[in-house]
Amino acid sequence: MYLDNSATTQVSEEVFEEMKPYFREEFGNPSTLYGIGRESKKALNQARQRVADAINAKPEEIIFTGGGSESDNLAIKGIAFKLAKKGKHIITTDFEHPAVKETLYFLESLDFKVTYLPVYENGVIKIDDLKEAITDETILITVMHGNNEIGTVQPIEEIGKIAREKGIKFHTDAVQTFGKIPVDVEKLNVDLLSLSSHKINGPKGVGALYIKKGTRVTPLIHGGGQERGIRAGTENVPGIVGFGKACELAANQLDEHYEKLSSIRDELIDKVLGTIPEAYLNGDKEKRLPNLVNFRFKAIEGESLILLLDAKGYQASTGSACSSNKLEASPVLTALGLDPVDVHGSLRISLSPESEKFDVDEFVDILSEAVSRLRQMSPLWNDDLDYDGVMCKKHGDDCRMC
Ligand SMILES: Cc1ncc(COP(=O)(O)O)c(C=O)c1O
Repeated sequence: MYLDNSATTQVSEEVFEEMKPYFREEFGNPSTLYGIGRESKKALNQARQRVADAINAKPEEIIFTGGGSESDNLAIKGIAFKLAKKGKHIITTDFEHPAVKETLYFLESLDFKVTYLPVYENGVIKIDDLKEAITDETILITVMHGNNEIGTVQPIEEIGKIAREKGIKFHTDAVQTFGKIPVDVEKLNVDLLSLSSHKINGPKGVGALYIKKGTRVTPLIHGGGQERGIRAGTENVPGIVGFGKACELAANQLDEHYEKLSSIRDELIDKVLGTIPEAYLNGDKEKRLPNLVNFRFKAIEGESLILLLDAKGYQASTGSACSSNKLEASPVLTALGLDPVDVHGSLRISLSPESEKFDVDEFVDILSEAVSRLRQMSPLWNDDLDYDGVMCKKHGDDCRMC
């Protein structure tokens, strides 16, 4: 049972079928004028229309990229370089994906100033903090729509309204939200929005950046003038075709999938918190994606838990795919103000529409058993302690043994 759909998803059968002809029969370069080139161009145009329709944009506002990371880079550096003469201040949050965070660190090395808004224990920013952070020098606000590790959703519409009133460009990374909750660029008041194909049952290595008409960015890849001169390079036609199809499917099935996923998620949250002692949900319970939950378990080492679950046939993760091979505490969970020891005991479960076969009761039994087993071996666990009050249940407050 694959429970790591926020890391990546399986390409769907329909998407795969749609892509196939563009590997061999329809291999033309879309920039050429003869028959097979024109066929490829037609396929690109159709995919662009499908992506645009899925987010209520116009096709000319869609730039195809090599994935979510590239879209984030293009949005942030593209605006920063374009508007550097106007100001050098950017506002973001404390827990963005590395594709945003590392891009901002790079810009700091070029003398840009960045304000990192706190996300508090519930993993959501406060609008007043944003208002206070804005200065005459602010040229860009970049705040992710849904967090990839804990699944909390930010008040993008409200942030966009403020940005627009102040004449500041606004970018959001919607890589985790698109296909899970409505992503409508008009309603969200965004100027730039990043998407990635492989999170919605499309192929890897392809994505898009929505750039609102009239918003100008400095290109990062120069060359043959493809993608309106904003992203040079012969287009990845099969990938883009697959992405287009995945967008169409995701948009058509959004409501049905939302219902299905959020009901499994809620059942999972209730059963885990109700069955396993000292288990906590990371991030706000309400303002969250329907497919993603992140728990922490007192006195547990997340990696060991992942291995025990894997041995029972469940693939989940401790954090984002990018950081799961690092031993440092997750920066996202650290940003919530959690104790670094507790951060290591976290488990991310991300569902997909195929998760309807997922038996929550059976999983929680296995999880519960794995947690107890690890706690029996853990020097940090003591059955006699009430971890909330950190007092000994057996001997009371004065206990010097437990
Ligand atoms: C929120 C978020 N932004 C950006 C990315 C990067 O996307 P890609 O893997 O397509 O480069 C990811 C991938 O995990 C993500 O979760």
